[in-house]
Amino acid sequence: LQYFFAAKSLAGKKLLITAGPTFEAIDPVRGITNLSSGKMGFAIARAAQAAGAQVTLVAGPVHVPTPRGVRRIDVQSAQNMLDAVLSNVESADIFVATAAVADWRPAQAADQKIKKDGSGQVPQMAFVENPDILATVAQLPRAQSGQLYCVGFAAESENLLANAEAKRRRKQIPLLVGNIGPATFGKDDNALLLVDAHGHQELPRASKAVLGEQLVAEIARRLAQ
Ligand code: CTP
Ligand code: CA
Repeated sequence: LQYFFAAKSLAGKKLLITAGPTFEAIDPVRGITNLSSGKMGFAIARAAQAAGAQVTLVAGPVHVPTPRGVRRIDVQSAQNMLDAVLSNVESADIFVATAAVADWRPAQAADQKIKKDGSGQVPQMAFVENPDILATVAQLPRAQSGQLYCVGFAAESENLLANAEAKRRRKQIPLLVGNIGPATFGKDDNALLLVDAHGHQELPRASKAVLGEQLVAEIARRLAQ
């Protein structure tokens, strides 16, 4: 009964979240992408919705069902993802970046399928850097003034704590969440390292559903402070 009447921790809040990989076209039939199932981001979206938030989920190409009550916007490229985020961030209270955004895209996507010419020659490809969605949002005046709380994720292959803290400072965000190895791509469980200005704390190995709920509770606690 007490639980039934307990105030939901994110009641009245708007949360915007990115999830999954991006896909950067090379030509109409191929492209480059990152490994990411989207499961962690979708679990956070579900948990935030259950905690009373109005949730908008900007998703790259993934095969995960949309959590009930969550508004989902499907995108392909990093540029598409940035556009969708910027058109929906205005009234958000919380921004969570879980997407595995491709850091680079082909400088020019070919209009037609690139064909082998039979000589054994391989195509030469130039790349350009994609926009950093999280860093862009973190620079918005509402984020800088603390009205928009930004949470980043980091997949590191080594020195998780040091790299996560450096990334948090570089992107100027209050909370950065590291995936504690081994690689969790596609798996249903994970372990997380939360790094903020006060230090770090671990959310031990659990299902992504449980971790999503715990992370939402940690975000709500920090917002209430
Ligand atoms: N991110 C983003 N847009 C990008 C790259 C990253 O929004 N173009 C976000 C991710 O969603 C994540 C955070 O930034 O929340 C960190 O991503 P990560 O790939 O770990 O860091 P990078 O800054 O891209 O640095 P590097 O890959 O070189 O470690
Ligand atoms: Ca990256």
